[in-house]
Amino acid sequence: MPGKLASFGIAPREHASQTPGRGPGAARRSPGSLPIPLHPPCALNYPLETAPVIRVESLTKVYGSGETALQIFRDLNLEVQPTEQVAIIGESGAGKSTLLHLLAGLDSPSSGAIYYRGTNISALNESGRATFRNREIGYVWQQHHLLGEFTALENVMMPLLIRGVSRAKAAESALSRLDEVGLAARADHRAGELSGGEQQRVALARALASEPSLLLADEPTGNLDERTGTAVFDLISNLRRKRNLTAILVTHNYQFARVSDRVLKLEAGALQTV
Ligand SMILES: Nc1ncnc2c1ncn2[C@@H]1O[C@H](COP(=O)(O)OP(=O)(O)OP(=O)(O)O)[C@@H](O)[C@H]1O
Ligand SMILES: [Mg+2]
Repeated sequence: MPGKLASFGIAPREHASQTPGRGPGAARRSPGSLPIPLHPPCALNYPLETAPVIRVESLTKVYGSGETALQIFRDLNLEVQPTEQVAIIGESGAGKSTLLHLLAGLDSPSSGAIYYRGTNISALNESGRATFRNREIGYVWQQHHLLGEFTALENVMMPLLIRGVSRAKAAESALSRLDEVGLAARADHRAGELSGGEQQRVALARALASEPSLLLADEPTGNLDERTGTAVFDLISNLRRKRNLTAILVTHNYQFARVSDRVLKLEAGALQTV
């Protein structure tokens, strides 16, 4: 599975040995001194007017080979229009997380193509995909993947620092994002000390920090109790609507799925309309 740095637009393999928050002194590091190289300015250009936002064509994904080969997708097709909220449901092991990883450019298809605003992201190299993620994708993981030793504010600042935004501007912008999720007062608290619901709200603030145009959320309420999960889901839906974001949300909760524009079920390697 991809490492947590991937959610900040970092290529997991390239930086696997540089994970902040690990090793001696990690707890006292500030984001300004993160051991993360900055990405060069984005060389990619995704025309905003291009519809659909996502077009998946004849996608297949096979893990392994020979007798142990596991075919996850067979001829999977999908189109998502601008500002649409699509919910994906499906049994455990159906491939929901695998699909989101592919859409975010965290993994490569075995065959087929994934177009983001007309650009085939499957054809980008690792660095191009890392830039694509940092610029275009807000990713909320089931298990927040915050860096526990860093403060809430520092966690939300990271995608911006990676992009090369100045520390002062990143802090200002991150504080606004935390305010939107109701956690400005907890900005200086370490992420590891926050409750599960608060951590997921910080993760949402981080996903929105770099002003993505596509929000991908993988069971963002899966580890929360019902009341907290509902609050987090409502927050995601409201902030998404406010920003006119396109969103693909994976959820086991049909109540949540129903408030989306479209519900698709992942079954037998393909998507069906519910
Ligand atoms: N890197 C990998 N190598 C081999 N098999 C994998 C890999 N990643 C996922 N799989 C397998 O692919 C299948 C789909 O996994 P995936 O995590 O996408 O399912 P899911 O629908 O998200 O399930 P859940 O609802 O439990 O999160 C599973 O059988 C899983 O074991
Ligand atoms: Mg999953």
